Amino acid sequence: MVNPNVSSQPKICYRPIRPSDLDILEHIHGRLFPIRYESTFFHDVVNGRDIVSWGAVDSNRSDGRSDELIGFVTARIVLAKESEIVDMLGYDSARSDQTLVYVLTLGVVEAYRSFGIASSLIREVIKYASSIPTCRAVYLHVISYNNPAINLYKKMSFKCVRRLQGFYLINGQHYDSFLFLYYVNGGRSPCSPLKFCAILLTGLSF
Ligand SMILES: CC(C)(COP(=O)(O)OP(=O)(O)OC[C@H]1O[C@@H](n2cnc3c(N)ncnc32)[C@H](O)[C@@H]1OP(=O)(O)O)[C@@H](O)C(=O)NCCC(=O)NCCS
Repeated sequence: MVNPNVSSQPKICYRPIRPSDLDILEHIHGRLFPIRYESTFFHDVVNGRDIVSWGAVDSNRSDGRSDELIGFVTARIVLAKESEIVDMLGYDSARSDQTLVYVLTLGVVEAYRSFGIASSLIREVIKYASSIPTCRAVYLHVISYNNPAINLYKKMSFKCVRRLQGFYLINGQHYDSFLFLYYVNGGRSPCSPLKFCAILLTGLSF
């Protein structure tokens, strides 16, 4: 059931996504996203194959589905030097061990929106990325018309660093995407000549 009635006092809990979540995870993705994902993607998520994920459930649900997913986030670790944002990461990004966390999908079923669930899921991703010493940033793409998600990432202090023309192809039509970035573990953008001069002149760090 992907449009549950919200219990009078929802108690949102977060847990790893597991194999028993396969059907509901696939179902919610089908409802929330205009993009179709391969079945292998869902199997990889629930089995934790190269993908990390967190699920949200309402443990106070009165319909007995207190362990059914109502929200999720999925992400993957990528090598910084192989990523499209290697140029945004400063001088040491080409080091072979530097990594990034790329958010693949994020969603909350309609009945449970505006409860802060997506914010908590993104916080889990940031906490996870921060716990990896080699990780420099969390990043993601969002379609340019998705204002709820854009507001969410801005509110979570992600920086919009790029607009990619025609990034998404949906039903034969191209749509732009924004690339959002959140630095962790001291990751930062490369020093521009202007910033460099400012540092030399003022001794300020940035
Ligand atoms: C985007 C989405 C994940 C937000 O989930 P949520 O749990 O409702 O988000 P939160 O309650 O944590 O909201 C946090 C902030 O996001 C922004 N936001 C969320 N919903 C919004 C809306 N409908 N309109 C405008 N801003 C919105 C607000 O800034 C909000 O902060 P506020 O409550 O202080 O105003 C959810 O709407 C969704 O699943 N949408 C469909 C799938 C999707 O678009 N996923 C993102 C793909 S990149």
